[in-house]
Amino acid sequence: MEPAMEPVAHPSMEPGFDVVTGGFSYTGRFIARRLLAQERRVRTLVRSPEQPPGTEDIKVDMAPLQFTDRSALVESLRGADVLYNTYWVRFRHGSMSFGEAVANTRTLIGAAAEAGVRKIVHISVSNPSIDSHLDYYAGKARTEEIVRGSGLRWAIVRPTLVFGTGDILVNNIAWLIRRMPIFLIPGLGGYRVQPVAVEDVAEIATWAAEQSDNLIVDAAGPDTVTYGEFVEGIAIAVGRRPRFVYTSPRLTLLAGDVVAWRLRDVMLTKQELQGLMEELLVSHEKPLGTRRMDNWLLTNAETLGRTYASELDRHWR
Ligand SMILES: NC(=O)c1ccc[n+]([C@@H]2O[C@H](COP(=O)([O-])OP(=O)(O)OC[C@H]3O[C@@H](n4cnc5c(N)ncnc54)[C@H](OP(=O)(O)O)[C@@H]3O)[C@@H](O)[C@H]2O)c1
Repeated sequence: MEPAMEPVAHPSMEPGFDVVTGGFSYTGRFIARRLLAQERRVRTLVRSPEQPPGTEDIKVDMAPLQFTDRSALVESLRGADVLYNTYWVRFRHGSMSFGEAVANTRTLIGAAAEAGVRKIVHISVSNPSIDSHLDYYAGKARTEEIVRGSGLRWAIVRPTLVFGTGDILVNNIAWLIRRMPIFLIPGLGGYRVQPVAVEDVAEIATWAAEQSDNLIVDAAGPDTVTYGEFVEGIAIAVGRRPRFVYTSPRLTLLAGDVVAWRLRDVMLTKQELQGLMEELLVSHEKPLGTRRMDNWLLTNAETLGRTYASELDRHWR
């Protein structure tokens, strides 16, 4: 996608501001809000200058998030104190690969170093591994290596499964539960997840920025539940209980593909399901997140899953 804004230097910003990628997107908007609440000055790097509904309160300076004009990227980062990097892609799609997302991350981090940014807070994922057979996790591990080798001060924050307003996964599970007579659960549903509130991720990220030592920390919530319990909790919140059918991962993916095809979206990829079933969305550290997903579900039950959230509409079209 071509940047819709002119990549220009921003003389209006005095040095010492923070930069957030995707400041109107999902996690980025919560980081931006948290920084504004701390009276930090914020610039966001965005692909589109149009603020989506629900982000009108986020009053920040904007510059393009693009990777083709390196000197413009450097200028947009010059004078920044901390760069909060949320940039990543959920899956391979069209001509975009995880390799390209890694290369783009390298460009961004290199530009931050050249611009003299003091510190980077890099949002990764729980349990990344260079040797992972899952490209998402291997790619994230590669981005972490780039961050550690950047010469900047750094903090790496590794969220598990992020829930909150604007999320796609939990919303679309709720959407399915509201509409479908049956809901497929791959395997026995006994593998665990440890959801974390998006507000907690933002708090952990800004806390990490304040630490003097470089650090790697998980962003995980207080409760670890099985996937079956996770789905059950969503069903209780929205007040509808389709028949839960335990079936093979292959059939679950196939059914998801059929629904997604009708919606012109990608609902769940094989790699995402593998990561879930291999419990990669569980932390092995004492959780720093405090907000419980059950509470959030109950307070957001009225709106959750009312409309479908399309990944392709949001990030790819
Ligand atoms: N969501 C989760 O449950 C979860 C769990 C663990 C780790 N994480 C990590 O947390 C970070 C933030 O995740 P998020 O879900 O909150 O993401 P997000 O805000 O929806 O997107 C983060 C950034 O990546 C950009 N982006 C996303 N898809 C893109 C695409 N196809 N092409 C180009 N740019 C794209 C977004 O730009 P646009 O908004 O302009 O598309 C935005 O600047 C990511 O690094 C993710 O890997 C998320």
